[in-house]
Amino acid sequence: MKAVAVLYPGGPAAAETPELLGCAENALGLRDWLEGQGHELVATSDAGAGLDSHLPTVDVLIATPFWPAYISRERIENAPNLKLLLTAGVGSDHFDLAAAAERGITVAEITGSNVVSVAEHVVMQILTLVRNYMPAYREVLDGGWDIGKVAAPSHDLEDKRVGIVGFGRIGQRVATRLKGFDVQLRYFDYRRLPHTEETVLGARFQGLRALVAESDLVSINIPLTPATQGMFDRDLLYSMKKGAYLVNTARGRIVDTDALVEVMEAGHLAGYAGDVWYPQPAPADHPWRNMPNHAMTPHVSGTTLEAQRRYANGIRECLTSFIAGEPIDRDYIIVDGGRVASPSYSPAYQ
Ligand code: NAI
Repeated sequence: MKAVAVLYPGGPAAAETPELLGCAENALGLRDWLEGQGHELVATSDAGAGLDSHLPTVDVLIATPFWPAYISRERIENAPNLKLLLTAGVGSDHFDLAAAAERGITVAEITGSNVVSVAEHVVMQILTLVRNYMPAYREVLDGGWDIGKVAAPSHDLEDKRVGIVGFGRIGQRVATRLKGFDVQLRYFDYRRLPHTEETVLGARFQGLRALVAESDLVSINIPLTPATQGMFDRDLLYSMKKGAYLVNTARGRIVDTDALVEVMEAGHLAGYAGDVWYPQPAPADHPWRNMPNHAMTPHVSGTTLEAQRRYANGIRECLTSFIAGEPIDRDYIIVDGGRVASPSYSPAYQ
């Protein structure tokens, strides 16, 4: 069996921090384990021509959302032996799921592996925006002490209306973490929760347009699918309250790139944060890097050391099943048996 893993380059940190399992150098901790069983493992950060050269012979391809290998229909056609696509993390939109389903390729991701990591990042970025942290920090670096300038756009989070779009594992964890801040929580999801669960989570359902129009802050936590690509277009962004905030840790392509720059430059939104871009790595001239009032990071929210341990273990679990000819844990399955099977993705592929 030949496995190819496309992972981010760890640089000097790879050797200094062996727990940095998600980088190409440390190869998810798989190398000795796989090679000891006589299998071949290629770990690379070359998601372009380097990856293409392995397509004719690869059986299992492992990719990660943080440094994605975009596996198109054409690439799938060029990989005649490919049987399994694995995401080291959560969110498998870098694979052409329809093409994988047509070819009978199984797609799995490590469901739940980094949902706490992302929810914590969302809460951090919400506070960063609402409390106007970035300009305050810059004031310190610049040697200033302009309280008026920094305090004028700074607010309490308490009592604000927070709308969560996509109320799955991450969305619900954001809600439970925000409860202590005494916010008014609303959510939108095409799967509405029973009333008792809404009560426990302290969040009420709202239609997308009403939620977006009435929230002081919106957090996007849906997968990227044909139904959600470009969902936050110019029209939806301008329908947000003037002075609201938007945090997107889901996928860059859910928000229209140019429309976001336009609304930020127009001052319609007070702030934007998140860690997801398109494409990734974001080029040095990506227009989001320098738009006003943002507090973005590179795609790191779901790759804390704890998350890396969890998704590395999950990949090993999937490979163990695959090598033994046994089914992969159902919770991990995105595509199987010739169809998109995950309930979070499947409505968009019917
Ligand atoms: P999940 O599957 O538990 O929840 C997603 C929710 O979105 C589900 O409740 C589903 O019903 C809903 N949904 C899907 N399509 C929808 C639509 N068109 N309209 C309304 N609701 C829709 O997934 P989880 O674990 O919460 O992750 C969500 C996404 O977050 C992932 O798919 C991934 O793209 C992203 N993510 C980002 C990470 C990062 O490091 N920034 C790490 C992990 C996930």
